[in-house]
Amino acid sequence: MSLFHRAFHLAHYIFPVGGTCLEFGVFKGGTYGYQAQQILEKYSGSSLIGFDSWQGLPDESSEVWAPQRHSPGEFAAPKTELLSKLACLGIEPGDGQFRLVDGFFSDSLTDELRQTIHDVVFINVDVDIHRSTIELLNFVRPLLRPGVVIYWDDWKDPKDEAAEPWGEHLAWSEWYPKQEGLEVETIEVNPINQRSMIVTRVGDMQLSSPLPSLWEIRYHANQLAEAKQEYVDSDSDYQQFLKLKGILRRIPLAKPMARMLRAVTKR
Ligand SMILES: C[S@@+](CC[C@H](N)C(=O)[O-])C[C@H]1O[C@@H](n2cnc3c(N)ncnc32)[C@H](O)[C@@H]1O
Repeated sequence: MSLFHRAFHLAHYIFPVGGTCLEFGVFKGGTYGYQAQQILEKYSGSSLIGFDSWQGLPDESSEVWAPQRHSPGEFAAPKTELLSKLACLGIEPGDGQFRLVDGFFSDSLTDELRQTIHDVVFINVDVDIHRSTIELLNFVRPLLRPGVVIYWDDWKDPKDEAAEPWGEHLAWSEWYPKQEGLEVETIEVNPINQRSMIVTRVGDMQLSSPLPSLWEIRYHANQLAEAKQEYVDSDSDYQQFLKLKGILRRIPLAKPMARMLRAVTKR
């Protein structure tokens, strides 16, 4: 069970009656399909809304460090690919339990759309870049309430440990301090810098009874991890990462090339 899976299940532990799950960045539907299947099997009170351009990433914000890290159009995937995956689960997205919102966030994330969304329990942020993160954070701000779990897929990655800020974590570090009355706590971070956090306060509303307390939530996150003989700080994603790193090391010239690339991107 990955950190993403745990975050999704944790949201349903906190809100056992379910609610709305939002996914920003659907691509071919890996995580959308997982959530849809779990909702069908276990969480019938929940619904899922996915947001994507299907044309890949837009241009990155100017003046942030990593436009060269991602390119416009990266992750373009025809929506039909996802639709046929969902059809195998017997799902035809529409206005009901499973929705897809098409288009770039700058056009699609409107006030009218927000008014149709209620009882958010889980937010999956998987958009890679700064611009998209700021847009979606502004959109979800009025929908946040204590207990909502936010998962970050590309917060940072290990090779950037010593590098300048970029993408999702840069957007959060700029956006969060400006949000008066909003408080969050990090629940888990794994070695590939994916993370989950929980909203603990929005204005006068605090994380407390009837919701579980923070320590109960942390304890439950650990239980979820241990149920699969994993520990919170030794995620299987990390083992995959190490394996990949090992393979790369064995490829002749991979190391000098990586060094050269780093030098070029730093310039
Ligand atoms: C890394 S992929 C998502 C991966 C997906 N969650 C999965 O499980 O495979 C990032 C996605 O975010 C979408 N995206 C990023 N910024 C966007 C924006 N501003 N508007 C619409 N879609 C955006 C891209 O089109 C792309 O499909």
